[in-house]
Amino acid sequence: MKVTVIGAGNVGATCANVIAEKDIVNKVVLIDIKEGVAEGKALDIWETAPVNEYSTRVVGYTNDYTQTKNSEVVVITSGLPRKPGMSRDDLIATNAGIVRSVTENVIKHSPDAKIIVVSNPLDVMTYCAYLTAKVDSSKVFGMAGVLDTARYRAFIASELNISPKDVQAMLLGGHGDTMVPLPRYTTVSGIPVTELIPADKLNAIIDRAKNGGGEIVNLLGTSAWYAPGAAAAQMVESIVKNENRIFPCCALLNGQYGLKDIYLGVPVKLGRNGIEEIIELKLNDAEKELLNTSAKAVRGVMDVLDKQLAAAVAK
Ligand code: NAI
Ligand code: 2OP
Repeated sequence: MKVTVIGAGNVGATCANVIAEKDIVNKVVLIDIKEGVAEGKALDIWETAPVNEYSTRVVGYTNDYTQTKNSEVVVITSGLPRKPGMSRDDLIATNAGIVRSVTENVIKHSPDAKIIVVSNPLDVMTYCAYLTAKVDSSKVFGMAGVLDTARYRAFIASELNISPKDVQAMLLGGHGDTMVPLPRYTTVSGIPVTELIPADKLNAIIDRAKNGGGEIVNLLGTSAWYAPGAAAAQMVESIVKNENRIFPCCALLNGQYGLKDIYLGVPVKLGRNGIEEIIELKLNDAEKELLNTSAKAVRGVMDVLDKQLAAAVAK
């Protein structure tokens, strides 16, 4: 079984490395547009195999999509990352062009692949890949919720001085400051988090999780890669092992949560066929309002992209 990762930058190379270390597929193909980058990173990762004791072959190519033929899963990380002062939406025009051309190449050689989009602005780039791929929406989805809940869970674990393994959480909405962490659906070994952390502290944790991407950008001058790469690799694992794990993923909504024609973060069951099921939670009025606000923000970015496309056509 083969998995391809497009973009051998920080997130793509990390993702390829984590997938390889899991030893769950025969081959990981890394592709980048910059001459030698994918080859070099893949070789460096492959040289860790004897030390880290896995068999997955990792290979890299410069823009040679024939090598990606019949991939089971393709992770798209190609695109510019955020720099200080940039919002995720600032990346829209450049990354939309990259995601479109990459998706065309991917689908030409792997028409049955499950495509996981990572490039930002995530929700709209995932929609862009879906429109380009012209396959069922169960096969095109985005990675954000696994990362955003990982941050939320890590902050809860720090606050309580416990293992993050015992923190379970769900989150809805777009990958941005309007994302909706759900304290009502957050537990620590089955104990509602609201019984363990006072409301003011929990609200501060939620705010930190919402701004978790920006916190790293401000520290590093570029966006995060260890947690994003690991999060995308966990989604790959659920698909290739047909685990049917339930993760918050960016999925096309067709009436669920009262929303239509929009890619947004919701809980899904992730298995061999990609999204096996979208799970609809019974939200209270406050949660519904937060989700609708987040959907509005994502639609705003979709409008920006539409206007950019219309202007390009008019030229
Ligand atoms: P990076 O700059 O380290 O890597 C991007 C790579 O894409 C570069 O190596 C570049 O050469 C390559 N690339 C550009 N155009 C290409 C094309 N047409 N075909 C193949 N490769 C191409 O950036 P990084 O940090 O890896 O981030 C990648 C993307 O992921 C960014 O858009 C970033 O904002 C996004 N991101 C999304 C997250 C999420 O939660 N969804 C989390 C972290 C980053
Ligand atoms: C992140 O959340 C910037 O989307 C990127 O780290």
